Formats: sequence, structure tokens, C-alpha cells
Amino acid sequence: MTKRNPNFANLKDHYLFPEINQRKKAFLAEHPEAKLISLGIGDTTEPLLPHITSTLCQGASSLGERDTYTGYGPEQGYSDLREIIAKTIYRGSVTPDEVFISDGAKCDIGRLQLLFGSDVSIALQDPAYPVYLDGSIMQGVSRITLLPCTPENDFFPDLTKAKGCDLLYFCSPNNPTGATATRQQLKSLVDFAREQRSIIIYDSAYSAYIQNSDCPKSIFEIEGAKEVALETSSFSKMAGFTGVRLGWTVVPKDLFFEDGSSVHKDWSRLISTLFNGASNIAQNGGLGVLSERGLEEVKTHIAFYLENARLLKEALENFEVYGGENAPYLWVKFPGKSSWEVFQEFLEELHLVTTPGSGFGPSGEGFLRFSAFSSRENVQKAIKRFSKISTFV
Ligand code: MLT
Repeated sequence: MTKRNPNFANLKDHYLFPEINQRKKAFLAEHPEAKLISLGIGDTTEPLLPHITSTLCQGASSLGERDTYTGYGPEQGYSDLREIIAKTIYRGSVTPDEVFISDGAKCDIGRLQLLFGSDVSIALQDPAYPVYLDGSIMQGVSRITLLPCTPENDFFPDLTKAKGCDLLYFCSPNNPTGATATRQQLKSLVDFAREQRSIIIYDSAYSAYIQNSDCPKSIFEIEGAKEVALETSSFSKMAGFTGVRLGWTVVPKDLFFEDGSSVHKDWSRLISTLFNGASNIAQNGGLGVLSERGLEEVKTHIAFYLENARLLKEALENFEVYGGENAPYLWVKFPGKSSWEVFQEFLEELHLVTTPGSGFGPSGEGFLRFSAFSSRENVQKAIKRFSKISTFV
């Protein structure tokens, strides 16, 4: 009989969000009348604004005309989109041919892991977006170091614990804690990677939420980063494209493996073999997002979700709350109980879906993550329900 890939036996049974959905379904099966509000998965809720919508429609309409129909595009993405990302997001600090368009940061992280194989040692923030760990385990990576990020260290890890690691995963603004690294902190990360000759996989999917000018929006704002980092990012949380699916990864040409071979070259090889390019409609939408009018629309949405975060944070002021100022997530401590226990209490007592902190790693135990991706009406309803929190925590 066909043997199972043994790496899968090393994973938890469920990915975090399907597990939450199962608990939600089980609760609804017993309480079909419950009006659940989700502050759980970070999924955008607000409809696209007119200019961005029109560019997606144009992308679709052009497929209905003989003269403008396109089939497969370049696997690396359309050159005009690569150019506008290099110019608008990176202000020329990367070149268009270092930008690879994808169907989203999550999918690209999975492909990146394939680039490095199983014989690598990795270090990641704890708590962290589960894909870094689960995807690595699927690859057969076994040398894994968790770097605790807690209120005590201002959510910035002790890098000395990552000594000798080949790959360092780093996400800022952080999912789940909402902590955002300062220029000084990122400089120490880049200096450390240069000393160690390791590679940083930098996830900037939430960078559009950064308001503090002392917090870089990209690792490439730090001198020397192009020799040690690649960066993956996304239109999902910036432009409400969670369903449209569009992202990118920057792989600098200055990045090399130990044997002197080019990471950029291998990434091109991998992408052209395993990926047929992002949807042409989505890429047209991406051009719309990064146009002058699109960027204005994006600002409106970012301000909307950050205001949700502010309202939630204000309503939770009696608790220890982190994040929410440069990120759409709040990280809230509920001491003395496990995250899943508090998750269940929020579900049963308040009919609110949150995300248990321990689902992101052991240092998340005792915390819940609240997502600000919600309609204002639901945020206001959720806040009203918060008045009952003191009856169970
Ligand atoms: C989250 O809720 O952590 C994310 O939105 C899920 C994702 O981006 O895959």
C-alpha cells in the first residue's frame, strides 16, 4: 500500500482556523438561534471601493474580447504590476525583476519552504502565523527554535537563541500580537542575520496598517537587508483581496546560498515549474489598487479597520491589551485560564468568535486574539456584549 508522508504525523490534527470553525459549528448545532459575531479569522469584510472594483471588472471584460483576451501570463507576473510594486511600495529600493507576483503570501510561504528543503534549521517568533511552523513540518524540517515574544520582551525576541539557525521567520506588524518592530529592532535583526549568514523570511502582509513612522513598512528599509532577506506580502489585508487572491514576494539578486548559488535563480526556476502565475483579472485589480485613486481607496479601508481596532481596544481597557495601533489585531491577556477555555467562554457566553492565542504557539497561552476585520455594526454589537466578560473571566 502507499505509504503516508511521515511528516504529516508530526502535525496537529487540524490547522487552527478549521478547528475554530468546527467548534463554531458544534455550538450552532446546539444553539441554532445564536447570533454569532466573528472577531476570529482575519478576513476582510468591507466591499471594494469603486475604482478598484472597476479595474477588476475591466480585467474580466478584456477576456471577453478577441483583441484583449489573454491566456497564461508570465509565471513571475505582469511586468507593469512588478514595476508599480517596486516603485510604489519599495520606492525603488528593489528592482521590478526582484518582485514575483503570487496568489497570496500564505501560498508563497509554502513554496518558499520548498526552496530550502528539509535540511535547514529554522527560528520563528512564538507566537507566530501557523503556516511557518506547519509548512516547515510538512517539509520534514525538524530543527526548529521558537523565539518567545511576550510583553516582557516588548514582543521582540532574544535573537541569541537563534544562533546558528539557517532561516529566520519574522512578521511585522505581527500576526497575532499586533506588535510592530521599530527601525532599531529590525536593524538588529538584519545585523544578526548578516553575522550568522542566515536568511530572513520577512512577512509584511500587514504593513499597510503601520502608522508609526519609526516602524519600517519593509525589511528593505534597513541597510544591508538585500543580502540577507526576502520579503513576502499581499494585497489581501491591504486592499480587501482575501478572496481575489494576489500577493508578491521580493527575492533580491544579492541573496545567495552557502555554495554561492543565487536564491533569485532558484526561485525563478521553482515558480516557473510549480506556478502558472496569478490570475490576470486579479493582477489588473492590483494595478488599480496601486494607482493614485486606488491608494486613496485603500487608505479609507485601512482607517476603517484601525478605527474598529481602536474601539475594541477602548472597550477592553480593563484588560491587558496589546496591538491594534499599527495592526488590525488585538492581543489580550486573560490570566489564569487556558486560551481555549476563554475562547469557549466567549463563544458560549457572548456568542463571540475569537482566536485562542495558544493556537499560534506556546507563548500565546493565556491570550486571545481579536480581529478588527468586521463591520462597524458588528464591532459595536460585540462591544455591548463585552459588559458580560467580568461574569466569567
Ligand atoms: C489570520 O486570521 O491569521 C489570517 O488572516 C489567516 C490568513 O491570512 O491565512
